[in-house]
Amino acid sequence: MDLNQEFFAPPKSIFDTHAHYDDERFDENRRELLNTLSEHGVGYIINNSTDLYGSAEKCLEMSAEHGFCYTAVGIHPEAVETKGTAVDEARLRELLKRPKVVAIGEIGLDYYWSTDRKEQQKAVFSRQCELANELGVPVIIHDREAHGDTLDIIREIRPKGSLHCFSGSREMALELVKLGMYIGVGGVVTFSNARKLVETVEAIPLERILLETDAPYLSPVPYRGKTCHSAYIYYTAMKIAEIKNISVNEVLRVTLDNAKELFSIK
Ligand code: NI
Repeated sequence: MDLNQEFFAPPKSIFDTHAHYDDERFDENRRELLNTLSEHGVGYIINNSTDLYGSAEKCLEMSAEHGFCYTAVGIHPEAVETKGTAVDEARLRELLKRPKVVAIGEIGLDYYWSTDRKEQQKAVFSRQCELANELGVPVIIHDREAHGDTLDIIREIRPKGSLHCFSGSREMALELVKLGMYIGVGGVVTFSNARKLVETVEAIPLERILLETDAPYLSPVPYRGKTCHSAYIYYTAMKIAEIKNISVNEVLRVTLDNAKELFSIK
C-alpha cells in the first residue's frame, strides 16, 4: 500500500462515502491501513456491505474497532445473481438497529454483469428503497448500465440518498439533484477519458456531490490501477477543485458537510 506520498488534507477533512474494506484484498493489512488513513486526513469512512451476512458482519466489526468507520447494509445486485431474490427483511431491520449503521447500501441495478434477471434485481432494489423510506434512512445506489430503470425506480419511490460512482449523463444527474439525490464522485473523474463525468461535475452544485473511493477499486490518477484507499480521495478532490475553479479545501469542506448531513453524522 502506497502511503509514502505526502498528503496535505487537513485532519478529519476526508469523508469516504463508499468503500469496501471488507474485501479480501485488505486481509493482509486491514487494521494497520485503517489506522494509517486517519493520520492522512481521513475522518469518516462508510463501508458498504454487499450482503446481509458475512460482508455486513465484517463491516460492523470495523465500525466497532475504528471510530471513523460507519456501515451501510444492503443486498448488492450481484448478490441477487448468486444468492437469489429473497430480501430477509427481519435481518435487514435488525442490522439497521446496530451502532453506526447509517444507510441501506450497496443496492441497485447492474446490467453489465447480468441482463437475464433484470426483474429480480428491480424487485430487490425497489423493496430496499421502500424499507429505507419507511425507516427514514438514506440509500447508496449502484447503477451500472441500468440508468433508465434506476431513474424510474427513484422517481417512483423517491428514496433519499446517493448514486454511487455516478456514470450517467449530465441530464440524468441534474434530474437526480432535482429529486433531492446526491451524486457520488470517485477516482474515475481523474481519468483522461472522463469527459462525461467532468461535464456532470461542472453542471451540478458542489452541495450535491459526495466524495468516495469504491476501494479497493478505481484509484485516481496518479495511482490508477493500484489498490485504492481513502486517502487517495485527495486527488479526486483536487480534480473537482480544478473543474469548479475553487480551492481543494473548499471541496473537502463542502462535501464533508454534505455527507454528514445525509448520513446524520455529527
Ligand atoms: Ni461499491
